[in-house]
Amino acid sequence: MAEKTISLGGADGGVDFPVMSGTLGPDVIDIRKLYGLTDRFTYDPGFTSTASCESKITFIDGDKGILLHRGYPIDQLAEESDFLETCYLLLNGELPNGEQKDKFVHDITYHSMVHEQLAQFYRGFRRDAHPMAIMVGVVGALSAFYHDSTDIDDPHQRMVASYRLIAKMPTIAAWAYKYSIGQPFMYPRNDLSYAEDFLHLMFAVPCEPYEINPVLSKAMDRILILHADHEQNASTSTVRTAGSSGANPFACIAAGIASLWGPAHGGANEAVLNMLGEIGDIENIPRALARAKDADDNFRLMGFGHRVYKNYDPRAKVMQATCHEVLQELGVNDPLLKLAMELEKIALSDPYFVDRKLYPNVDFYSGIILRAMGFPTSMFTVIFALARTVGWVAQWTEMIEDPSQKITRPRQLYTGPTERAFLPLDKRT
Ligand code: SDX
Repeated sequence: MAEKTISLGGADGGVDFPVMSGTLGPDVIDIRKLYGLTDRFTYDPGFTSTASCESKITFIDGDKGILLHRGYPIDQLAEESDFLETCYLLLNGELPNGEQKDKFVHDITYHSMVHEQLAQFYRGFRRDAHPMAIMVGVVGALSAFYHDSTDIDDPHQRMVASYRLIAKMPTIAAWAYKYSIGQPFMYPRNDLSYAEDFLHLMFAVPCEPYEINPVLSKAMDRILILHADHEQNASTSTVRTAGSSGANPFACIAAGIASLWGPAHGGANEAVLNMLGEIGDIENIPRALARAKDADDNFRLMGFGHRVYKNYDPRAKVMQATCHEVLQELGVNDPLLKLAMELEKIALSDPYFVDRKLYPNVDFYSGIILRAMGFPTSMFTVIFALARTVGWVAQWTEMIEDPSQKITRPRQLYTGPTERAFLPLDKRT
């Protein structure tokens, strides 16, 4: 088929560059030879119009509000699959058959304990340390405990490191919480599902049996699915960039956790709860919206807007439905839910938000559910990181195995001083 090309360049006659098509989404212009042929760079801060890689894992259509994982719509996975099955899909490209699923669940379940010495690591933190700070530190330190799965050129070691990260995240995350409240660490239980065990690690105490509430464990499992992967978002791009230098997988995931922590990204779920708390009452919504619209005020409506979605985030829809289920099950009448729904209703009819296509994103309702389930606000982004670990390792693996991948090294538009001679101290004013 004749190769599609596009001509780039000024009046001196453009240079033709190949245009590549994927299975879904926009075509891309292959500009790998642009600098060599035109002596020019492209300029795209934040990469709003740049495809950084080829990927087969997740596809988002922001205009239509579509999210596919290996072709499967997120709402179907959230409704009919479970988190470990979705992990298998993201890692391997296909849903597992019965035998494959049993083996994967067994392998993950039997790697959920951490090296006992890792428990000492927590004691170096202040009790009031933010759990995300602990996560960055502890996950980064895993390469000091599991250096037998850090050879990124060995497919077996890549798989072992990926399984260890997915399996141990709930234990590491829950211990960050237990440490902050001075309770003893709980050990994983192999008789529980992934989501059930995380709730047990978080809320059980050694003194009495812990009763799993199936509605809450199902909601937890669904929340993990909704956060599993999301194309080349900031933290995933961070993991890919760190991995492109050959850094070990534990260090790459620690870098991803650090990036996710930002309030513009994964930290938004914590910021939404703080924002709703600040707004306090429905009568204060107009003031909050006025601030969000004021270009001179850096206040943003947290949980609203998205770089890609210019329609309702499909994850937010599932999250809102789950929110009602959990609050009903717990008999919780959270005024913040009413406030959030009123805020959404008013914002979605406000021209500022409508014109800019700003809709609720995955973070808008998640915090309300997690708070109702007993998680402190500071743990919300930790749960996001726990869930996103499978997406990060799947994308990291895809990058390592991509024959065209190179170390990430963008260029720049330099606008600083041109060359000048050094000025001795006694000559400076
Ligand atoms: C996640 O990338 C991913 O896939 C991320 C994620 C994932 O799963 O990995 O989906 C998870 O990070 C979700 C997003 C969580 N962040 C928030 O909820 C924080 C609040 N949202 C904004 O910070 C913002 O919407 C971003 C950061 C999410 C997106 O920023 P963009 O695409 O760079 O948007 P922009 O800054 O170009 O905004 C366009 C316009 C601007 O106004 P104008 O300059 O055109 O006048 O919309 C305005 C912005 O000021 N705007 C908002 C707004 N978001 C954008 N105004 C008020 N409140 C907001 N929330």
